[in-house]
Amino acid sequence: MKKFLKIASVVLVVAALVTAFTACGGKQETEKKALVFGTNAEFPPFEFVNSEGGTIDKFDGIDMGIAKKIGEDLDMETKIENIEFDSLIVALNNGQVDALIAGMTINEERKQSVDFSIPYYTAVQVMIVKTDSDIKSAADMKDKRIAVVQGYTGESCVKDLAEKNGGYNYEAFKKGTEAILELENGRCDVVVIDSITAKNFIGDKQDLKIVEDSTAFESEQYGIAVKKGNTELLEKINASLEKMLADGTIDNLAVKFG
Ligand code: ARG
Repeated sequence: MKKFLKIASVVLVVAALVTAFTACGGKQETEKKALVFGTNAEFPPFEFVNSEGGTIDKFDGIDMGIAKKIGEDLDMETKIENIEFDSLIVALNNGQVDALIAGMTINEERKQSVDFSIPYYTAVQVMIVKTDSDIKSAADMKDKRIAVVQGYTGESCVKDLAEKNGGYNYEAFKKGTEAILELENGRCDVVVIDSITAKNFIGDKQDLKIVEDSTAFESEQYGIAVKKGNTELLEKINASLEKMLADGTIDNLAVKFG
């Protein structure tokens, strides 16, 4: 009897294993592997929440169009994780996401902790002010109340100005929309943020305008980030981006969402 039980349990275990393996195999056939992008959907026209349905789930924008296309090129299902901008690099290095697509400027500091794709978009920091403001250049921001967004390159630009010259007082907000609200309510005098997003935030608001200063702000390029050393994914992303840059896909997305 004991022997019978032993054989029976071995048979059961084998049967269970076979079922488990076939179940996995079947699953792989029907379900594509996921490519998870981290973003921060507070940055129109690159990424924002469209409650009526976006390009990927509820997420819409230029970057979402790019992410979707990369997924298609890699024959993977694209998924989006919406994370605070400040926490994106940590999420990538934790393995929570496979790549970051967030209008993220390629810079030396970030290159210490991630690898960047080829650049896919060029932008520059600009100043948003009230239409009647006397701020005409970055130097005019001295002794004014400056608002930036936490962790954005706009913050580092203003920080640099402050360190070099003194007299630049800034406050960092969690979201671009919060900084704009401060400006509209007169609680700050200027918001420093990326050019296209600035244009998008202003929209048809008559009381705000953009001031540019190309001598103070260098142009910036956006790239997709992967975990350091993940060349396999990076090469695939680069190939996909090259195609999208060459065939006008990115230009078209910029027109569509811009
Ligand atoms: N280009 C700026 C930077 O890299 C701002 C990016 C903000 N992106 C976002 N998805 N919130 O810091």
